[in-house]
Amino acid sequence: MGMEEKTRFSVNTARCIQCDRCINTCSGMVIGKGRDGYPEMKPFERFGWQGCWRCQHCLAVCPQGAISIFGKKPQDSLPLPPETMGTYMEELVVSRRSCRRFLDKAVDRKVVSGILAAMAAVPTGGNAQGVEYTVIDDKERVRAIWQEAYSAMEAKARQHVYTHSFRELNYAKMKASEQSVRKGDLLFCGAPHLFIAHARCVGKWAEDTKADCTIATAYFELLCNAHGLGTTIMSYAAEVLNELAPKAREMLDIPREHYMGLIVGFGYPEIPYARGVQKERGARTHRYSVEHPKR
Ligand SMILES: Cc1cc2nc3c(=O)[nH]c(=O)nc-3n(C[C@H](O)[C@H](O)[C@H](O)COP(=O)(O)O)c2cc1C
Repeated sequence: MGMEEKTRFSVNTARCIQCDRCINTCSGMVIGKGRDGYPEMKPFERFGWQGCWRCQHCLAVCPQGAISIFGKKPQDSLPLPPETMGTYMEELVVSRRSCRRFLDKAVDRKVVSGILAAMAAVPTGGNAQGVEYTVIDDKERVRAIWQEAYSAMEAKARQHVYTHSFRELNYAKMKASEQSVRKGDLLFCGAPHLFIAHARCVGKWAEDTKADCTIATAYFELLCNAHGLGTTIMSYAAEVLNELAPKAREMLDIPREHYMGLIVGFGYPEIPYARGVQKERGARTHRYSVEHPKR
């Protein structure tokens, strides 16, 4: 079977209006105009740069819902959000804040499932989709991992050994804030659940794949915040697991060779925020436009 057959690309000619949008949005340039004027899949060697990117843009762009690919029916795709969503998203970004005190309560499983379903669609370089997600929503399991990691971290601290980004001062500061700001847990801030985007980052695309993990982390955080959940992106916790607590790292069941740069702790926030902050970024946003000449 040729690779093009593996896409199972099909056009409902009763609906297609030959607008060519699918042809003009195909990142892999594997859709062409057939003799009859309808789009058709061209033969290609392999998925990726030498063929179909598996992006499904053809299915998503068709105004008539006439295209199916990989057995996906256009009517099973979500409709587009209303344009007012833009304002809502701006408000969300401005009002969301990191949470370092969580309620000791499991998040509704359906909410987590909805977020994870959406996470399937986050962008990756070249649509590589090489990022894996590990979600530990069993809070007892989080607790067990925490115990192992925390005791390893403390044992190292007694020998004045810290992670690569920490010195004695940073650790002392974290310890000082532990009981108040971090609800007794400087490592995971008492988060009942953890989310980690991780991937095998090797070869010439390694940096892109790391960026994919970071982007997935950011999308996850925002989706949580949109549901009223609290989140903390934690590089320190990832450092502890990667550098000081190999047994706890193993308990995550993430392959040892996988890159894991950030851990997101999430749950219901104990202390809600009352308003947004007013960060000063204006002077460091370099915008070139007619209305806003560069300062
Ligand atoms: C890459 C990255 C790593 C972070 N690591 C930690 C961390 O280890 N511990 C922590 O408490 N917060 C961590 N944070 C949260 C930041 O401290 C927080 O985003 C910042 O102080 C701004 O606060 P805000 O998110 O409430 O606007 C991290 C955030 C980012 C983006």
